[in-house]
Amino acid sequence: MTRHPNPRVAAARVDALFIDRWSPRSFSPEPLTDADIASLFEAARWSPSSSNVQPWLFLYETDGPDREVFDSILKPRNREWASKAPFLGFIFANTRTADGREPRTAQFDAGAAWMSLALQAQAMGICTHGMAGIDVDAAHEKLGVDIELWTVMCAFAAGRIGPPETLPPELRERERPKDDRKPLGEIAHRGILRAR
Ligand SMILES: Cc1cc2nc3c(=O)[nH]c(=O)nc-3n(C[C@H](O)[C@H](O)[C@H](O)COP(=O)(O)O)c2cc1C
Repeated sequence: MTRHPNPRVAAARVDALFIDRWSPRSFSPEPLTDADIASLFEAARWSPSSSNVQPWLFLYETDGPDREVFDSILKPRNREWASKAPFLGFIFANTRTADGREPRTAQFDAGAAWMSLALQAQAMGICTHGMAGIDVDAAHEKLGVDIELWTVMCAFAAGRIGPPETLPPELRERERPKDDRKPLGEIAHRGILRAR
């Protein structure tokens, strides 16, 4: 398996899963098994959601007849590398219910399900890479998901990591875990926010 040096240093104790997960672009063509794929979605299925409505829908393709359609929805800069991944998925959030309500947390809940999937993948040695760079209208039209009720959130590639040599030079240079994260004090604050 290809390994990349990981410069990330945790600022507090966390499970290695959190700092070992990163978003590569060079995927090995090695297919994910049906059991692998079931485990990813099983992790998503157990995610928490407001009132337990589970407002998420995942559509995916591997090497089946619909794969070209899935690839075609990606913006070219993502398609360049993601079309080589053995798995490509799209995540939808149920942003309007059949009776016209717009649950405030649908996107948040779908994001939680995606993160469960991504961390389960990491635990199994499978990498994921989310992509907002998609054609939103095409995602709904080509995948047959009602745009009145659902909102496509992003696409994601999954697979085992492959050698960076398969990437074009400008992507190859960026193919490593990055440690550019905001400091803890900027994202979490104890007590009321007061003007400083
Ligand atoms: C919702 C979402 C959309 C993203 N869109 C893209 C994208 O279109 N293309 C891309 O190359 N990376 C995309 N990324 C990957 C992010 O750039 C990446 O997660 C971020 O830089 C942090 O790096 P890490 O995942 O390696 O820790 C996306 C990630 C998320 C979660």
